[in-house]
Amino acid sequence: MASRTVRLAADTLTREDMGALADWLRTGPRVTMGPLTAEFERRLAAWLDVPHCVMVNSGSSANLLMAQALLEDGRLRNRKVVVPAVSWATTLAPFMQLGFECLLCDAGPDDLGVDPARLEEILRRESPSLLILVHVLGRPNRMEEIRALCGRHGCLIIEDACEALGSEHRGRKAGALSLAGSFSFYFGHHISTVEGGAVAVADPKLHAVLRAVRSHGWSRDVPEPFRSDWRREHGTDEFRELYTFYHAGFNVRPTELNAFLGLRQLERLPEVTAARERNFRLYREALPEFWCQSGEGGPVSSFAYGTFVADRAETARRLAEHGVECRPLVCGSMGRQPFWIRRHGVTALPVADKVHDHGLYLPNHAGLSSEDIAHVADVMRRFARPY
Ligand SMILES: Cc1ncc(COP(=O)(O)O)c(C=O)c1O
Repeated sequence: MASRTVRLAADTLTREDMGALADWLRTGPRVTMGPLTAEFERRLAAWLDVPHCVMVNSGSSANLLMAQALLEDGRLRNRKVVVPAVSWATTLAPFMQLGFECLLCDAGPDDLGVDPARLEEILRRESPSLLILVHVLGRPNRMEEIRALCGRHGCLIIEDACEALGSEHRGRKAGALSLAGSFSFYFGHHISTVEGGAVAVADPKLHAVLRAVRSHGWSRDVPEPFRSDWRREHGTDEFRELYTFYHAGFNVRPTELNAFLGLRQLERLPEVTAARERNFRLYREALPEFWCQSGEGGPVSSFAYGTFVADRAETARRLAEHGVECRPLVCGSMGRQPFWIRRHGVTALPVADKVHDHGLYLPNHAGLSSEDIAHVADVMRRFARPY
């Protein structure tokens, strides 16, 4: 029997949250998307310091919504997008599903974000109109360099900040560093609404299109003056407008249950991000011989502690034997995932391949104690070899 169990993630939803939800449900409220969702969006936007947030039913839906809204909005020059090889399945998949040509970019060896040198090669060669960044395990990308490159090549930037809620770059929150940014509120993320996600956005027109595409493509949730403009432009009267579809939409709405929980979770966000940052520092101090992420930005609201080990399967087995849960370093390389290989064959990318074969992540969540981290580090030092 292991002396201690250290779980990979802990539920941020407490018994009190569930009790409050049950009490509220007994009052017979409306549970389809409504005023609580709007209130959650306002409070999240204020916390992120962005003009607007659009809540959806998952982080994956947030990525899908951004991709489709950009197409519907008509601001892309072509359907070419740069996607980081070290990302997440549903960072990439929406673009494949929507018929984009997806150009995988290798990661930088320090931060595991997009490598600016590799990005520049792609921008020169392919002239894509869009780049989606992923702040891997919460570490912000090299924004200054990336912005300068994309500016020079006319490439728009959006962010998948699903692993980075609360991380900062030069005083701005991750997810608010570009045209639009996505977040996930799934179990194991910084906050949880059971399932849930959001898009942060400053541009008023893109915000309007995001709201339409979230709900079938209609304008009921679209703010003025866009709603009236669209009605006028299409000669729609107020009654017809109820079933007028201005954009090719989805239904990726959240419910009021998610928003009810989200409003309570937002209160705890500062404490959660501080704990995750502290845990990252404790790991780094306890494991100086192992690689750790570094780069721009801070504080980093660390999602998990990523490192490289020589024999990953053996390390995972030893950690499990000693009560410690771990995982591969997220998706490894998208260029090695079956759904990519089926279409494009294996795409070899040196840093992403190293992540694929040797990357491991260790638990980080707000419920972790310094003793838990000392235990994980002790098992690592005894049984793992740095790579
Ligand atoms: C970078 C990234 N994007 C998107 C997602 C998907 O979020 P969700 O599980 O809410 O769909 C995840 C999930 O962990 C992720 O890590």
